[in-house]
Amino acid sequence: MKQSLTELFQRRFACHLFQPERAIPAADLEYILEAGRLSPSSFGLEPWKFVVVQSHDLKLALQTACFQQAQVGTASAVIVILAKLAELSPDSEYAQRLLAREYPGDQYAMALANYRNFCAATDLRAWSVTQCHIAAANMMTATTALGLDSCAIGGFLPDQVKQVLHIDSARYEVALVLPIGYCTETPHEKRRLPLADLVDYR
Ligand SMILES: Cc1cc2nc3c(=O)[nH]c(=O)nc-3n(C[C@H](O)[C@H](O)[C@H](O)COP(=O)(O)O)c2cc1C
Repeated sequence: MKQSLTELFQRRFACHLFQPERAIPAADLEYILEAGRLSPSSFGLEPWKFVVVQSHDLKLALQTACFQQAQVGTASAVIVILAKLAELSPDSEYAQRLLAREYPGDQYAMALANYRNFCAATDLRAWSVTQCHIAAANMMTATTALGLDSCAIGGFLPDQVKQVLHIDSARYEVALVLPIGYCTETPHEKRRLPLADLVDYR
């Protein structure tokens, strides 16, 4: 188990061109989305929404919104990860419902008060987007486990992505664009700094 997870991390790479004619089986797509759904989130608020784009025309429109990056237009599916905004308000029905689920009974009133204080001191947009990246990482690992490829795309024009998908800006921010499919390229050697450069034990 430990070994195979490391192998997945080694094997995943950022694919820059997919085989456009190959569709992903629906079960594989669901497996990937499930990895996103099961991801951890602060206060258990699941601040993500996954828009799965498979229409050829929409993929091309998204590619334009992503600085013409070809992996977007050639992917079998593009998962656009949206970060919730309005629903994270401590006054929203959504936030209160999920807080009550996470902190049932006697715990709820204190949890809501804590959440209200936290929100007053936090950039909720950045906080929401950051958590969507955790879901994205899990979805990328799940994609690799299926023998499929992906590429995280942070290079996009958020307003244009929202326009293409008719997304309400008050409700969602675009967190990441995640094309998936069968890559045309062979994986390159992993380029990573050694752990000694990254880790400080104290
Ligand atoms: C948040 C994020 C945004 C990224 N945005 C892009 C992007 O817009 N275009 C692209 O080609 N790769 C993008 N990448 C992929 C990285 O360039 C890639 O992961 C990195 O160079 C390491 O290569 P590897 O993933 O193949 O190991 C992004 C990765 C992350 C995590």
